[in-house]
Amino acid sequence: MSKAESKAPKATEIRAIKGTRDLVAPEVLLFQEVEAQAREVFRRYGFEEIRTPILEPTELFARAVGEETDIVGKEMFTFLDRDERPICLRPEATASVARAYVEHRLWERPGTTKLYYQGPMFRRERPQKGRYRQFSQIGAEVLGSGLPQVDYELLEMLWTLLRACGLGDAELLLNSIGCEADRRRYTEALRAALRPDIERMCADCRRRYERNPLRVLDCKVEADQPIIAALPTMLDYLDEPCRAHFSAVRTMLDEQGLPYRLAPRLVRGLDYYRRTAFEFVHGALGAQNALLGGGRYDGLAQALGAPAQYSEGIGFALGEDRFVIAMQAAGRASPPRGIAAYIAALGPELLPRALRLARELREAGLAVEVGDAQRKLARQLELAARTGARSAVILGPDEVAREEATLRELGTGNQRAVALAALAGELAQPAKAKP
Ligand code: HAM
Repeated sequence: MSKAESKAPKATEIRAIKGTRDLVAPEVLLFQEVEAQAREVFRRYGFEEIRTPILEPTELFARAVGEETDIVGKEMFTFLDRDERPICLRPEATASVARAYVEHRLWERPGTTKLYYQGPMFRRERPQKGRYRQFSQIGAEVLGSGLPQVDYELLEMLWTLLRACGLGDAELLLNSIGCEADRRRYTEALRAALRPDIERMCADCRRRYERNPLRVLDCKVEADQPIIAALPTMLDYLDEPCRAHFSAVRTMLDEQGLPYRLAPRLVRGLDYYRRTAFEFVHGALGAQNALLGGGRYDGLAQALGAPAQYSEGIGFALGEDRFVIAMQAAGRASPPRGIAAYIAALGPELLPRALRLARELREAGLAVEVGDAQRKLARQLELAARTGARSAVILGPDEVAREEATLRELGTGNQRAVALAALAGELAQPAKAKP
């Protein structure tokens, strides 16, 4: 078959849906690593896991994230369920966590509510590197406290997590987008500033100008950038409490020596944000350079039914897919498969003994593969090397009669006889040089 022929999909072949992916090793091992690092860091900061449904009522996101946002307006996978109710695949999880907080009155539990989650999110965006229609997020939310210290600790936690993943060279972009009153005043100021130029701007900006001028700051069209650069910034429109809150967060970051860059045009693509807003960006990512994003969303829980005094909140979500791209670019190797031994039995009559040995070694915590006992030893050793196993355990009839095996180091080819009973101990210390 020619190369071109072998590449062409067969008529019966079924492919993954556009913008979705299958993740296998070595990539999937880095996903596992990000998840393990995140769990460990979250534990130290007192977060507990929450698992919310992937299917949610469409109205949840319309209310929480906002009808005018790209996520809700253009990108949701939404459909009518059999009972004609609109449901969707969640595009993000902050709204779900806030819904669960209200549904289960989680504020009645002692202390601040600190929850983390991991899982797939769905947005019907144009796929490109780092942007998929199904992607994985890890996120955390703190509900029930408005203290600037909480913002600081969340950002500190993120620096810790980034460093643990080898991404300490990310950059933190920080802004405050104030409270609702600030945003109203700022929106008016933006409209006034845009008025002389709006007819020259792109169609999206003209639409945003009418409906939500703040979104103009998200515009990526090259020709619009000089106009956008000259617009007033949100920070000039903060009222006194919002200004004091932001200043306290910045002071703590400065005192603790955590770096950030003020990004007065960072508005984030979701409507629930109030006050602190941030993103961590990374150079290895290209156009989709946000590793993670988040911010404060005081009032969101109240809009979903929580009492006002419990409705402050702040959180973030990181894109696992983007973490993995940045980690690969930083040369972070996937952890090796770590197979301790490949058991090569010399003949089918020894297979039961080989399987029993494998079971004992696995019970002792070792990763073990069993070869095809019908194959010749040379072939089994070849296959053993391909699995990346550190050693082969060769079981021949004479050795088994003596309750022994030949332990062969696959790297060096050195081999020696070892009592079967001592194998687990021997295999558990591969690094030690043996005579
Ligand atoms: P977001 O900025 O929409 O915020 O998404 C957070 C992160 O998810 C992004 O920085 C990016 O790394 C990743 N991400 C978003 N869309 C895609 C995509 N199509 N493909 C791959 N990765 C993507 C939120 O979702 C908020 N819920 C964050 C938050 C939590 N704010 C407060 N609490």
